[in-house]
Amino acid sequence: MKKSSSTMMRLSKISIIIIIITTILLIIINGSNASRTCPRGCDCIETLLITNCSESSQLEYVPHTLNPALKKLYLPQNNIRRIDSAFDVYKNLIYLDLSSNLISTIVDDNFRYNNELQIILLKNNTLVTLRPKAFNGLNQLKILDLSYNRIEMINDTIFKNLNTLQILDLSYNLLKVLNENTFVGLRNLINLNISNNLITKFTTNLFSNTPVLIHLNASFNEFEHLDDNWFIALYDLTVLDLSSCHIASLSPNCFNGLNNLTILNLNNNSLMAIPSASFLPKNVIQVLNIGQNPFPFIHPKSFYHLKHLKRLYITNTSSLAKIHVDAFDGIENVEILELSNNQALKHIDANVFDNLYSLSSLILSNNSFENLQIDLITKYKKFDLYLDVRGNPFNCNCSLEWLNFHLIRMFNKTVSSNPDYFLNQNITFPIFNLATLLNENVSEIIMKQNALDVRCYSPFALKDKFIIKLHKDKFGCFLLESIIPIIIGAMFGMLIISGVIILLVIQCRNQLSGFVKNQLYYNENQRNSNNHFDLYPKPEFVFISTYNDFYKSPANINAAMEEFSVHYPLNQQQATAHHQQHQQPTTEL
Ligand SMILES: *[C@@H]1O[C@H](CO)[C@@H](O)[C@H](O)[C@H]1NC(C)=O
Ligand SMILES: *[C@@H]1O[C@H](CO)[C@@H](O)[C@H](O)[C@H]1NC(C)=O
Ligand SMILES: *[C@@H]1O[C@H](CO)[C@@H](O)[C@H](O)[C@H]1NC(C)=O
Ligand SMILES: *[C@@H]1O[C@H](CO)[C@@H](O)[C@H](O)[C@H]1NC(C)=O
Ligand SMILES: *[C@@H]1O[C@H](CO)[C@@H](O)[C@H](O)[C@H]1NC(C)=O
Ligand SMILES: *[C@@H]1O[C@H](CO)[C@@H](O)[C@H](O)[C@H]1NC(C)=O
Ligand SMILES: *[C@@H]1O[C@H](CO)[C@@H](O)[C@H](O)[C@H]1NC(C)=O
Ligand SMILES: *[C@@H]1O[C@H](CO)[C@@H](O)[C@H](O)[C@H]1NC(C)=O
Ligand SMILES: *[C@@H]1O[C@H](CO)[C@@H](O)[C@H](O)[C@H]1NC(C)=O
Ligand SMILES: *[C@@H]1O[C@H](CO)[C@@H](O)[C@H](O)[C@H]1NC(C)=O
Ligand SMILES: *[C@@H]1O[C@H](CO)[C@@H](O)[C@H](O)[C@H]1NC(C)=O
Ligand SMILES: *[C@@H]1O[C@H](CO)[C@@H](O)[C@H](O)[C@H]1NC(C)=O
Repeated sequence: MKKSSSTMMRLSKISIIIIIITTILLIIINGSNASRTCPRGCDCIETLLITNCSESSQLEYVPHTLNPALKKLYLPQNNIRRIDSAFDVYKNLIYLDLSSNLISTIVDDNFRYNNELQIILLKNNTLVTLRPKAFNGLNQLKILDLSYNRIEMINDTIFKNLNTLQILDLSYNLLKVLNENTFVGLRNLINLNISNNLITKFTTNLFSNTPVLIHLNASFNEFEHLDDNWFIALYDLTVLDLSSCHIASLSPNCFNGLNNLTILNLNNNSLMAIPSASFLPKNVIQVLNIGQNPFPFIHPKSFYHLKHLKRLYITNTSSLAKIHVDAFDGIENVEILELSNNQALKHIDANVFDNLYSLSSLILSNNSFENLQIDLITKYKKFDLYLDVRGNPFNCNCSLEWLNFHLIRMFNKTVSSNPDYFLNQNITFPIFNLATLLNENVSEIIMKQNALDVRCYSPFALKDKFIIKLHKDKFGCFLLESIIPIIIGAMFGMLIISGVIILLVIQCRNQLSGFVKNQLYYNENQRNSNNHFDLYPKPEFVFISTYNDFYKSPANINAAMEEFSVHYPLNQQQATAHHQQHQQPTTEL
């Protein structure tokens, strides 16, 4: 008994010890869990050291119980108002997303221990001012996004420690002035976005602190005037966006120093003339957008110094009414020229594009052209030109017949590889804009679709008819060219007939009364029988080609037209319609 009771005692002692140990272990485990929790609505991926607390977590503060070794922290669309020293524990942070919160200030030394941080997104908060030492300690930072805030001013040298920063986004703020020392320290900045602010001027030394800047977006500001030498330090600048800035005048040396500038956007400003004097021979601009400005006239040699120009956009200029015949002199390398949406532009000189030897795309859509002359494209054999002439009020008369043929050529150039393309689907017409044209060449699909969508506006019988689908006879050249022989023939005929009549009258004067009697009898008979029109066989006229100048040999043209009628894709329905159309008399003319 004693033995067994002592065994019992020993067993219970062991079990007590086991219980105590497990309790301690549990407490330890629980304790560690308590100090490292993943807040509700967050997604904590421990293996990758990522925590993602997006909108559903509705945080009001930065969670401080996350893994201190955290590398990426996503906190967008919460209700965080203050971030004071909240990141001191997360010393390994590389990526921090605080966009779309309610942060209104960043205190001095807020990121003092975060010298691994490379990306900070503070977009769409309520920042008004930035403390002078707000970004101290961030000596690996590469991207800083401060867009969509209410920043009114930036203290001098606030970025002075951000020597590694490459992208700074200050767009959509309320900045008015950038002092000379604002960008001190940003010696590796490549991309600066200060668009959508209220900036009225730069100072000459502002950009001397950002010597490797490649991309500057200053659009949607309030400059009114660009002064000499503002950009003189920006040797590497490649893209300069100054669109929508109310710019009315440019000093002659305002683009001085921009010897690598490739893309310049001056769209939607207040320029009353093309600022030719400011385009310096040293500028190597390849893409220029100068549309939506109120100039009424493009004067001679407007772009003369821009020898490297490849793409020129003059669109949405509602006051542009006249383009001088020498306007594009000197820019022989232009490949794409867009002159579209210029409602006041009714006429364009046939020789205006003569010197554009490299032209491959000419976009003349949505102007007010009733007519375009074939000479626009015949000079220097621009037969394969991509031509977009949609949305013009074309008068489809003989002068425009060449366009029918040119569009067929454009369409045919690519359609033979897939003739069924348009028959099996509804066509939607994509819209060109600067972005798409910068990024890609005009695709063959777009070429084909655009060729299909050019319509007549007048005469009434042809209104809204597709030019590419019109039979060549509808343009009236047939009529014009055959009317002179008809008149001459008719006159000869009249002469002969009247001669015969006179002879008859003279020779058969005695039988005249008998002739009249016979005639009356005949007419009565006709009236009694069922009268109907005589169907004379239509006279056959030889089609005289107007393309003889265009395609030197007439033999070619006949072959080409024949091939076209073989290759042009018609489905059964269309084919029948086409057939019927041809049997109708040409009353529409
Ligand atoms: C974070 O979570 C949200 C919602 O769960 C998700 O939409 C988002 O893609 C996540 N972000 C990252 C970087 O994983
Ligand atoms: C800014 O944040 C608000 C609230 O989260 C959101 O509705 C809005 O779309 C955001 N705007 C931008 C430009 O991100
Ligand atoms: C920042 O600039 C504002 C306005 O010029 C000035 O009032 C303020 O004292 C400056 N702050 C510091 C710390 O220099
Ligand atoms: C500012 O410019 C940069 C670079 O061009 C671009 O990535 C960014 O989206 C722009 N910011 C806004 C808010 O559009
Ligand atoms: C400049 O910024 C505006 C507005 O933020 C944007 O629409 C435009 O695409 C940007 N330009 C370039 C060249 O990135
Ligand atoms: C700018 O031009 C110079 C000389 O033409 C060239 O060496 C340099 O690489 C260019 N910079 C850029 C960013 O293209
Ligand atoms: C043109 O600029 C004005 C003034 O900056 C702006 O309000 C307008 O939205 C711009 N228009 C376009 C089409 O960019
Ligand atoms: C021309 O104006 C239209 C309508 O205002 C606009 O949608 C289009 O983007 C503008 N084109 C350019 C190149 O600015
Ligand atoms: C021409 O105008 C139409 C209708 O206003 C528009 O849809 C189209 O985008 C414009 N084309 C160009 C090239 O701007
Ligand atoms: C065709 O119409 C245009 C514009 O209405 C006119 O200038 C031209 O002289 C006409 N051509 C012929 C051959 O009638
Ligand atoms: C149509 O395409 C064929 C084959 O590509 C070509 O031989 C023919 O000349 C073209 N016709 C016209 C009118 O361009
Ligand atoms: C094309 O459009 C017509 C009428 O708008 C519609 O009935 C037909 O289903 C469309 N076809 C296709 C392939 O989308």
